[in-house]
Amino acid sequence: MRNTLLDAARFVVNARFLGAMTGAGISVESGIPPFRGENGLWSKYDPGLFDISYFKSSPVESWRLLKKLFYETFQSAKPNEAHYVLARLEEEGLLKSLITQNIDSLHHIAGSRNVVEYHGNTRELICTTCKKRTEATPQKIEELPPLCECGGVLKPNIVFFGEEISLSALLKVQKAANFTDVLLVVGTTGEVFPASFIPFEVKKRDARIIEINVKPSRYTEEITDIFLQGKASEVLYELEKEVDTLLKL
Ligand code: APR
Repeated sequence: MRNTLLDAARFVVNARFLGAMTGAGISVESGIPPFRGENGLWSKYDPGLFDISYFKSSPVESWRLLKKLFYETFQSAKPNEAHYVLARLEEEGLLKSLITQNIDSLHHIAGSRNVVEYHGNTRELICTTCKKRTEATPQKIEELPPLCECGGVLKPNIVFFGEEISLSALLKVQKAANFTDVLLVVGTTGEVFPASFIPFEVKKRDARIIEINVKPSRYTEEITDIFLQGKASEVLYELEKEVDTLLKL
């Protein structure tokens, strides 16, 4: 693996515009289950329960599930080394853009600033009637369902199945994709459109794809240039060490 790590580190150091895209796999070591695979949420819960139509028809039941699966789980979750490495690479001016499919805010908590939360986040609530945003304080989410001062039902500011990606996220990603010449793809199966398309878009512009995952994904055989198999925290930690060594040379 050393050679591939070194090759990957060379790509990172020589990148004009290094980007990263992360999925649920980066937060697994923080105690947050992934969506797919053996211990994935979708092996226990019907994804239809996370469709906007179910939220609108059954806001109380939907909120009970959202609190159990997301809010309670995220409450005790802390960033792991993988989140911190990406925050440090940003701080050192190497990482220019970070796109995450995760709604857990762990990149923010780790100190990343330039984060596109492609599927939103649970920190904010948005009114389904007046679209006003409020903070998801513990008191507010005690209500079932939480209500806006206008009387409308509040939903987490996440993208439910059946909902569109926000225009601001789409535009930010398009802008980053235009410049990205090296992309780190960390802990995603690449199965959910339109997020899954981002590495292909970047690859179309001859970017290098460095993939980090415990097992191959849909990208590995198709577009990945360097596949670093392993846990995100361990592999990113090793990659950062190689990068630091090269920068000192
Ligand atoms: N380190 C690196 N990768 C890991 C680790 C780890 N410790 N643990 C698991 N993985 C990998 C798995 O091998 C898998 O490829 O993380 C990936 C998790 O895949 P999914 O659960 O499908 O998560 P993701 O790709 O982010 O899902 C995309 O689907 O359900 C929707 O909106 C939800 O944002 C989510 C989207």
